[in-house]
Amino acid sequence: MGGTLPMLNPPHHTRVRRSVGNVFHRNSLAEMKASVERTTSRLLDRFEEELAYGPADFCTLVSEELPVITIGEWLQIPSADFAFLRSLTHDQVYTQELFPNPSQLALSDESTRQLREYFTSLVKERREKPGRDPVSEWIRVWDAQEPDREVADEAVYSLTLFMLLAALETTAHVLSSTFRLLLEHPRQLNWLRIHPEQIPDAIDEALRYDAPIHMISRVASEDTELAGVTVRKNEMVQLMAGAAHHDPAHYASPEVFDIRRRPAHLGFGGGIHFCLGNTLARLEADCLLAALLERLPGLRITAAPLWEPRVAFRRLITLPVARA
Ligand code: HEM
Repeated sequence: MGGTLPMLNPPHHTRVRRSVGNVFHRNSLAEMKASVERTTSRLLDRFEEELAYGPADFCTLVSEELPVITIGEWLQIPSADFAFLRSLTHDQVYTQELFPNPSQLALSDESTRQLREYFTSLVKERREKPGRDPVSEWIRVWDAQEPDREVADEAVYSLTLFMLLAALETTAHVLSSTFRLLLEHPRQLNWLRIHPEQIPDAIDEALRYDAPIHMISRVASEDTELAGVTVRKNEMVQLMAGAAHHDPAHYASPEVFDIRRRPAHLGFGGGIHFCLGNTLARLEADCLLAALLERLPGLRITAAPLWEPRVAFRRLITLPVARA
């Protein structure tokens, strides 16, 4: 994991980030939009079918599926592998928890090992048989700037692995939590149905209210002072983004979910490590909410949602809903 983007400092970080290219710029996002809409529609067809028989789980059927299909199709990974990769990412994130216990760390180590095996062989395959996909493109970019092939392959491996890891838990959370919060605030949900152009504001408020990543870690490169506290070189600092989002000094009545708020927030981080995939995550959330508002009015939560007991990476495991 040491070679993944958030772990790097300039100038290495600058080099790696540049090598990714402007992958989610306006034109490529426009192309991805059609496929995200198609997937959303297919997932909601199935969700609707299940709802005909009673409560259906939004997480299993929709919010956990859309991100893995979107990123998997983009990376041109076989769809038969989607469930396996998603399950590995669920376990892998424990390593970034605040106080992981030994069994969680063991689970995380094992999934990191399997992910390494999977993505090392994916990079090898794409090198042998390059195509028109992001991984083959990164191989071309790295070959042009790095004479050592092993270094190039390792860089492409880290990029591909991190794109998947960064895209799954986070996006699934924003999809499920935005929908949950709207179902829990029916007046705002109805208002949004009449004003779908405000969907991006609802997504931002959900990112503030219940950020997918509650904790961002940094290690001090030199002795420094932060808000009056001395931080020594090599000490780790945890930025508690989820808590910052509920700071009454920054947000009036922070405990209130209000889609008219239009908050500035740390949901996608900041500075040189600002989330590279934020536009893709927003696109998925936007397409899904628009389709839900149009196709499925009158849903309600039927049982308390189940949460993964974690601090850093939020995860809603189940969100059972039914027609009212
Ligand atoms: C709602 C969904 C998402 C959230 C909340 C989110 C959040 C974040 C945050 C907080 C960071 C900063 C980490 C740090 O400073 O240590 C980050 C970085 C990053 N994210 Fe996202 N992310 C999301 C979706 C995605 C997607 C869909 C992708 C890719 C397809 C992606 C790719 C990345 C990458 C590559 C970085 C590292 C950037 C760097 O270090 O230069 N993210 N993300």
